[in-house]
Amino acid sequence: MDYTTILVETRERVGVITLNRPRALNALNGQLLRELMDALSAFDADETIGAIVITGNEKAFAAGADIKEMADASTVEMLLRDTIGLFDRIRQIRKPVIAAVSGWALGGGCELAMSCDMIVASETAKFGQPEVTIGVIPGAGGTQRLTRTVGKAIAMEMVLNNRTLSAEEALRYGLVNRVVPVERYLDEAVQLASEIAARAPLAVRLGKEMVNKAFELSLSEALEAERRAFYMLFATEDQKEGMKAFIEKRPPKWQGK
Ligand code: CAA
Repeated sequence: MDYTTILVETRERVGVITLNRPRALNALNGQLLRELMDALSAFDADETIGAIVITGNEKAFAAGADIKEMADASTVEMLLRDTIGLFDRIRQIRKPVIAAVSGWALGGGCELAMSCDMIVASETAKFGQPEVTIGVIPGAGGTQRLTRTVGKAIAMEMVLNNRTLSAEEALRYGLVNRVVPVERYLDEAVQLASEIAARAPLAVRLGKEMVNKAFELSLSEALEAERRAFYMLFATEDQKEGMKAFIEKRPPKWQGK
């Protein structure tokens, strides 16, 4: 597929997707979201790729859903387009997805970053849910993921009063994994992704699945699921190799099976 709103490249075992509507601060229109989900699915299916990075540019990760595209839409048109529903597809990606965020991550941009498994932020990153300033509320997980991550007090301020978090605040509240100088945020995210991509692929896949279960199941259901996944990994060659390599004091060689 030829993309017009994103750029796609690979850096060894890491797939990198760059949102590329700089003049609109990477506003997420339908076309961009469709292309993004297509590229994510392609990397997910590609055996040579172990982890994925989504990034924007220094000024903006993404300044939200495209306001111009939806300003005149009726409820029925919004429902039929269901552009926001495209965000949900990220949850089906099995490989780790890391957001490399610099500049604005607002509205749908903040929600997109939060849909990823980890966030590496530049010192200039700014996170916010400004929907209330244009007469709506977050529609792609903002009220839910934000609250589960930063807690009710901060989420309420962000959603009800457009409070924007600096990168340092986002780190303090557990929204991002690390904050680095702006020159390094993408390299840092790719480095983190390549380290994960070098680990046992099936263990990484199940580890991601199980951490996400913490948000979806009760504790007893999630602990049960975790235990089964742990036992299941004993059916893989990588478990035998990993433990044997530990005992033989050598680095493991993963097969991904
Ligand atoms: N949709 C469409 N276009 C956008 C946009 C958006 N979300 N954000 C910025 N742009 C466009 C601007 O219209 C402008 O285009 P023109 O040059 O053609 O006028 C261009 O990007 C540059 O923007 P600004 O001139 O406004 O840049 P700035 O540096 O002065 O301000 C900003 C930056 C504070 C991020 C400001 O652009 C802004 O407030 N953007 C909107 C943020 C927002 O409200 N996001 C929420 C959208 S709704 C949503 O996301 C719902 C959901 O939950 C999914």
